[in-house]
Amino acid sequence: MDVLARLSVVFILCSLFRKGLSDSCIGRCGQGVNTAYNCQCNSACVRYNDCCADYDALCLGGQATVDVLSAVMQDLWNSDTNRLRESDYTISTTGSRLFTYVNTTALNKPTFQGLIHLLDNYNIVVGQAEQQTTAELAEVNDFVNTILATSVMTKTFTFLVENGHITNSNSVFRDVLMELWFNLYPRSNGGPTDSSGFEHVIVGELKGTSTVSGFHSWIRLYLEEKNGNLLHESFLIRKEPNMIATAFSWHGVKKTKASFFLGTSPEFDMAVYTICGLVHRDSLCKFTLQNQAVSIQTWDVVHKSGYQVASAYPSI
Ligand SMILES: *[C@@H]1O[C@H](CO)[C@@H](O)[C@H](O)[C@H]1NC(C)=O
Repeated sequence: MDVLARLSVVFILCSLFRKGLSDSCIGRCGQGVNTAYNCQCNSACVRYNDCCADYDALCLGGQATVDVLSAVMQDLWNSDTNRLRESDYTISTTGSRLFTYVNTTALNKPTFQGLIHLLDNYNIVVGQAEQQTTAELAEVNDFVNTILATSVMTKTFTFLVENGHITNSNSVFRDVLMELWFNLYPRSNGGPTDSSGFEHVIVGELKGTSTVSGFHSWIRLYLEEKNGNLLHESFLIRKEPNMIATAFSWHGVKKTKASFFLGTSPEFDMAVYTICGLVHRDSLCKFTLQNQAVSIQTWDVVHKSGYQVASAYPSI
């Protein structure tokens, strides 16, 4: 063989090797186009016909992704030592109050207190700009530090690193949590900076006099019901493990269906939603937990670049 022929054999072998073996969506689901690879792993690859062979299986809820997610979610559940015990609360599926008993001592745990301190930091009216004080920012930092110290969040960090969603740095993980949940953004394109992932998902928002938007925290529901701001209207669904959907009115405005985890810790809810948003942004995140099928819906803020939590909740 002359030199040219040898070179072309090497070239063909190299490209076969690159195409066949090295290009997979492991750790790349949802990432932007990267021309260092021969195939891509984001939703646009379907249109451009350049998806990696394992795109469906790994990124679109194929069995490989379900298995990986189920393992980490079960690990988080088992580690959620702050979750209330079944005996720590009772709910009524028929009465006019959802929570008929809560062991309030169980809410004194640091991550619960951290979350509770944040609840009055937001203007819940959509369209009215947020004003964040130094004291409120300090509360956010305290809360984030408190949840980061839990084993639920340590395991979340390890999972996200091992699956290529973040680099191996605690400060990067902290920045990602801050960006996803606490960085303020406009709920509508071009509108005032009136929202955040935390405000929407945990605190809840009011859109005019007709819609309650978000509100997927059992702790928030319990406290607002106790304060008289929330009237429970009807119990809709219970699905194991610990997921319910109910209808209520909040400040006189109806929420026809709010779904959330019941009794879980703030770090568990935020860990599950963070993982689902990073693995299955804007779609259903499916896994099994306690031998039950679970689906989590997450939404990104479409009019802002990068990922921020627009919403996240159990789809039941
Ligand atoms: C309430 O919760 C606390 C903290 O988890 C626990 O020590 C206490 O035994 C619980 N009380 C009851 C009546 O179950």
